[in-house]
Amino acid sequence: MSENFVKVATVDEIPEGTLKTVNLGNEQAVIANVRGEYQSIGAVCTHQEWDLSDGTLEGESITCAGHGAVWNLKTGEADWAEPLPPEPIYEIKVDGSDILLRRKG
Ligand code: FES
Repeated sequence: MSENFVKVATVDEIPEGTLKTVNLGNEQAVIANVRGEYQSIGAVCTHQEWDLSDGTLEGESITCAGHGAVWNLKTGEADWAEPLPPEPIYEIKVDGSDILLRRKG
């Protein structure tokens, strides 16, 4: 059974080019607004747990503010000096001004 979408934010909270961390149950997800399209992966860097919303959004990647791991928003995988466990990926639905999220898979 797939989980239901949950409202986690509104569109005005995440303007184009910005990042926001939201709570989904006991998980944290970072939502990126990439040229008007929302994408989301886990918010806690699997290296040393920095919040990815403190990082830099560039294209479809977030560079972690901690030590510079580059997280791919499509795959949830990091490009870094050593392999890091991937982030979960979240599906996003926009309903009016609401942003809803659910874990993919
Ligand atoms: S905590 Fe993200 S790269 Fe180290």
